[in-house]
Amino acid sequence: MTTRPTPRSGLLDISPYVPGKSKAEGKTYKLSSNESALGPAPSAIEAAREVAGALHLYPDGSATGLREALAKLHSIDAERIIVGNGSDEVLTLSVKCFTEPGDEVLMTRHGFSYYPILTKAEGCKPVMAEEDDLTADVDELLAAVSERTKVVLLANPNNPTGTLLPSDEVRRLREELPPHVLLVIDGAYAEYVEADDYDGGLALVEEAEASGAANVVMTRTFSKIYGLGGMRVGWGYVPSALIDVMNRVRGPFNVNAPALAGAEAALADQGFVEENRRHNFEDMARLTQRLRGRGFEVRETLANFILIDLGTEDRARAFLKHQEEAGVFIRSTASSNLPTFVRVSIGAREANDAFLAAAESFDA
Ligand SMILES: Cc1ncc(COP(=O)(O)O)c(C=O)c1O
Repeated sequence: MTTRPTPRSGLLDISPYVPGKSKAEGKTYKLSSNESALGPAPSAIEAAREVAGALHLYPDGSATGLREALAKLHSIDAERIIVGNGSDEVLTLSVKCFTEPGDEVLMTRHGFSYYPILTKAEGCKPVMAEEDDLTADVDELLAAVSERTKVVLLANPNNPTGTLLPSDEVRRLREELPPHVLLVIDGAYAEYVEADDYDGGLALVEEAEASGAANVVMTRTFSKIYGLGGMRVGWGYVPSALIDVMNRVRGPFNVNAPALAGAEAALADQGFVEENRRHNFEDMARLTQRLRGRGFEVRETLANFILIDLGTEDRARAFLKHQEEAGVFIRSTASSNLPTFVRVSIGAREANDAFLAAAESFDA
């Protein structure tokens, strides 16, 4: 019999993250992971190539260039920025650094499906607050706070529901949370949102700290509108009082050199971001209109995907299978407690057309 070290308690209770499906052979379209419809920013490809000759060198462990560029673009303080191997890493650090095993991490019923995983990996307990019409509900969140709550994870806009909690509601949540509870605002899709009173949570990080309660962290990613999911770069805006802790815990060279160079170049290319945003909403409107015309129940979102309610779990499964047979991979939202829905990323025109053609031939 083989012997083996025993995994830390609780780890085998984790249901593994279900990634968006894809397939290497044949002509297929991947609309299952909310990736950039227009591919990577060309400037990022070039920048990553340029560092290829120096791959024997470790990257800049403090990501100085990228942090300074982010600070300039967003008019924020570079000293309070942490860069991670994807925003997943920053989210994980937020829970790892500010909880003890057995503590509770609060999230919403249909929040990002990685939240319960990263929570359990730290030995903590995920607690889900009910939502209101697929939108986070501040009163429900506050009612779910217990003595053991240490962190609240809130994606705004959320994936997979694509809904947004208005800034004044996020502020109210922060004000009514006990001050020792860390509110993490995950802005993975922030750049898609076009609303005057929305800054993804940046101002709240500073406001909270200025008011004497340094309990808000905001995260962002280069994986979505910047088109760099394969590079793995995300960042967090963290109160001065907390960033030292997170920097102690993160790996010394957690973000690789081509990724740092690519992200910095992509950031400088706001024209690409704008083009991606415009394409996204134009094609979201086109898809929604065509699908509704065929009687589909569609929810447009503030991010780069739509949700379709197929009414029953069987019909959702049949729709996923039908799309897959047509070479189009879309996403089941069953792991976010939405088993009758599917999520479809807004892709390039050709991919969206392939999806529409398959949807229109679905008659289950
Ligand atoms: C809400 C949300 N947060 C975080 C992430 C993780 O992004 P990253 O690629 O930066 O790790 C995703 C990716 O799908 C997401 O949807």
